[in-house]
Amino acid sequence: MRVDLRTRAGQVLQRCQKLALFSEDAGSLRRTFLSAPMRDCHREIASWLQPLGLSPRIDAAGNLRALYPAAASGAPRLFIGSHLDTVPNAGAFDGVLGVVLAVALLESLDGKRLPFAIELVGFSEEEGVRFSTPFLGSLALVGRLSESHLAKTDSRGISVREAIESFGLHPAELPGAAMSRDTLAFLEFHIEQGPALENLGLSLAVVDAISGQTRLEFRFSGRANHAGTTPMDLRHDALAAAAEWIAAVEREARRTPGLVATVGSIQAKPGVANVIPGDVRATLDVRHASDGARTQAVAKLTHLAEEIAARRGLAVAHTLLLEQPAIPMDPFLSGQIETAIRAAGCKPHHMTSGAGHDAMILAGSVPSGMIFLRTPGGISHDPAESVLPADVEKALECGMQLLAQLASSS
Ligand code: GLV
Ligand code: MN
Ligand code: MN
Repeated sequence: MRVDLRTRAGQVLQRCQKLALFSEDAGSLRRTFLSAPMRDCHREIASWLQPLGLSPRIDAAGNLRALYPAAASGAPRLFIGSHLDTVPNAGAFDGVLGVVLAVALLESLDGKRLPFAIELVGFSEEEGVRFSTPFLGSLALVGRLSESHLAKTDSRGISVREAIESFGLHPAELPGAAMSRDTLAFLEFHIEQGPALENLGLSLAVVDAISGQTRLEFRFSGRANHAGTTPMDLRHDALAAAAEWIAAVEREARRTPGLVATVGSIQAKPGVANVIPGDVRATLDVRHASDGARTQAVAKLTHLAEEIAARRGLAVAHTLLLEQPAIPMDPFLSGQIETAIRAAGCKPHHMTSGAGHDAMILAGSVPSGMIFLRTPGGISHDPAESVLPADVEKALECGMQLLAQLASSS
């Protein structure tokens, strides 16, 4: 029975909500790399693919992979997907929507085979929540998940390698997770996660490039002491220093066009009311469409931390967690996406993504393209994250059109 696009779009939304139930936290969504709910998530997706005759495999990096065969053997492969992990207190659509839409596109083909195979991928890790390092899933696909990634540990001291093993997977098989040489391209549907499309009253955008990002951890080391007896002028308060720096980070980013800088996590020790904090760790996330502007901003913000610490008689050190340059999407694919968006009856908007995506890792190895869906209120990384059913319908129409275009050009 043919299912119309509106019904399919409704099912996409329901499925995203269903996956949002698989969480490590009661009452809110958190699903990190190879956690128990990730297994439930895989099982649920497998149950949707089974009627298509597909049985997904989980590769050695924990990515869900399902191959929809081509019309003929030996044909190249188009990858479509996004990530299945989430931030804490997440919404239901970041990443997941791209995987669920890929399932719906396979269903919409109604068994029709194309001149290329389609490999659906649900990446195991994109957010960097569990190991403070993002893109573990997509790095495995491009053969760049290194020994140093495998050695990273989470807050309980469990390494990436150990997490892979305790999920029943084998790190020695990681080379088998790499994309095959016959890969045609990678396509990722994703919510915009910002206000641009909504402000323009448009449904879909072509992503021309993804902004670069640097993530660091700063450690302010002062001196813990008694909160009642230590005079204010004799303190080396690490939290007060960090607070001054955080305000300076915000000021600097506000006055630099295109720059966004965020201190998203802070830990003060010993962390009790009556002790002056002696030790503070704070993360810094810096992004800009221009790599030069980003690098310059990181140097300036680091200098500010050093200057504030020195003035207050503290030490400060920093560790680099991620340095990811900005990357353009493939111009041919972007052109095809623009045509497909028009064919779906929408006006295409072109934009640079401020958020990081798996496509930025894949783009270094294979032609990659992204399609954004409007995000109501521009709200993401929050339970209020949403997407409009009519936009999902348009995204499906655009996806079907894109597959037809790529089929006729290959
Ligand atoms: C991923 O969501 C990011 O931090 O951009
Ligand atoms: Mn995200
Ligand atoms: Mn995402």
